[in-house]
Amino acid sequence: MSYLVGIDIGTSGTKTILIDETGRVLARAMAEYPLYSPKPLWSEQEPSDWREATFATVRKVLTDSGVDPREVKGVGLSGQMHGSVFLDENGQVLRRALLWNDQRTQAECDWITETIGRDKIVEQLSNPVLTGFTAPKIVWLRNHEPETYAKVRKVLLPKDYIRYELTGEFATEVSDASGTALFHVRNRDWAYEILDAIGIPKSWMPKSYESQEISGRITEAASRLTGLAVGTPVVGGGGDQAAGAIGNGIVETGIVSSTVGTSGVVFAFSDAPVVDPQLRLHTFCHAVPGKWHLMGVMLSAGGTLQWYRDAYCQPEKVVAQATGRDPYELICAEAEQAPVGCEGLILLPYLTGERAPYADANARGVLFGITRRTDRSHVARAVLEGVSYGLRDSFEIMEGMNVPITQVRASGGGARSPFWRQIQADVSGYTHVTINVDEGPALGVALLAGVGTGVYTSVEEACRATIRVNASTEPNPAAHATYDRYHRVYQSLYAHLKSDFAEVSKIVSG
Ligand code: XUL
Repeated sequence: MSYLVGIDIGTSGTKTILIDETGRVLARAMAEYPLYSPKPLWSEQEPSDWREATFATVRKVLTDSGVDPREVKGVGLSGQMHGSVFLDENGQVLRRALLWNDQRTQAECDWITETIGRDKIVEQLSNPVLTGFTAPKIVWLRNHEPETYAKVRKVLLPKDYIRYELTGEFATEVSDASGTALFHVRNRDWAYEILDAIGIPKSWMPKSYESQEISGRITEAASRLTGLAVGTPVVGGGGDQAAGAIGNGIVETGIVSSTVGTSGVVFAFSDAPVVDPQLRLHTFCHAVPGKWHLMGVMLSAGGTLQWYRDAYCQPEKVVAQATGRDPYELICAEAEQAPVGCEGLILLPYLTGERAPYADANARGVLFGITRRTDRSHVARAVLEGVSYGLRDSFEIMEGMNVPITQVRASGGGARSPFWRQIQADVSGYTHVTINVDEGPALGVALLAGVGTGVYTSVEEACRATIRVNASTEPNPAAHATYDRYHRVYQSLYAHLKSDFAEVSKIVSG
């Protein structure tokens, strides 16, 4: 039997799994770490926290599974995309990483877009330059922390920093590199002209592989810290969305995933690098060789529910602790008491700005339509509905582009509650199915490790060997009709508030 390890450096924590070649999970481990927001719009993490979480979770899955490390055929890495880890000439981390949901770089995005020109950007990157992406973060460092910038010799994405710790190699792969705003998505290689035009040295970028290719091997030092055998291959892996898509079997046209983690993502497979003419969706390389994908990314999907839990659900937390239940389960049970559409209470979930369908760093959360009848159940349901309206925005853009949608696979924490799944189906109008495994990106990269080391012949075969649909949630036509009307109000609220969001941001930043 062959064994594979998948590691996902997420925003709330690192998750590691160990599977056998049938996809059976023999052990899983999770280690959490903090997120720092030292100023409004800033979002940072400590790369050493990811490293320690990786070492601890890998050790744990090896111990818990009892698998001989020499039988682990390969390791795959996944992680939150777009983050920037700045390293000096000795490979030491220079400052906390700026994350995917950090919104401080609007001025740098504008400068890059003016310097290069929008047409050239779209031709080379297939995407606009957005605040969460890596390139404007590098330029921000140059503008605001020149002493640190002067010491930079490499810029790595979160999972690629972990690769460096495990293998000593500076490497990335095409799916995650696509989100740097420095990658030629159609050519599947660095966008050298853009690097030159904005003055970022090519030598700072790691070597880029296809996602299933072997990019390095476990070093002696990493072996001592993780328990993995020296020389175990580490494949390219994938950004968490592409990797999660592999873990959901999104490897053919028509099968689309809707994933609610901290972010909320609607993801469609594509044979070609198709670009949304209004650039609301991202066009990135898929973790399947020679394939691409389209995705709409909401920045605060599960993140909005997490905020609601932490800010307002102390009572639920207390009950959850006393009864061994999950606070989210209690919040969903409470939300179930409110009617479809919450009697007009509508939540805009733009707590950390937004990306799809509006690339707007200034957008904020809004609770609209409060009356004397509004209670906790309405607010809880409005959070679940608001996130579902945001996901529907991305489905609608895909429909407008004639992207085929024959099946929607719901995944992430937001798919665990049958009640929230029903709301997502009712709001979008699409049947939402779930699959037999719920391991997301960690499974996706474990499968990629299997492809790269010959356990499977292709990514498609790896998915066929391990993934099956197991349940389905049909939309309720009456609820869908009500949501149709509320969704139009939801959309017009943003249009009405856009300039107020901008004004409030100016006031807050002084
Ligand atoms: C994708 C994105 C997020 C992060 C965090 O573009 O920004 O999904 O990868 O999960």
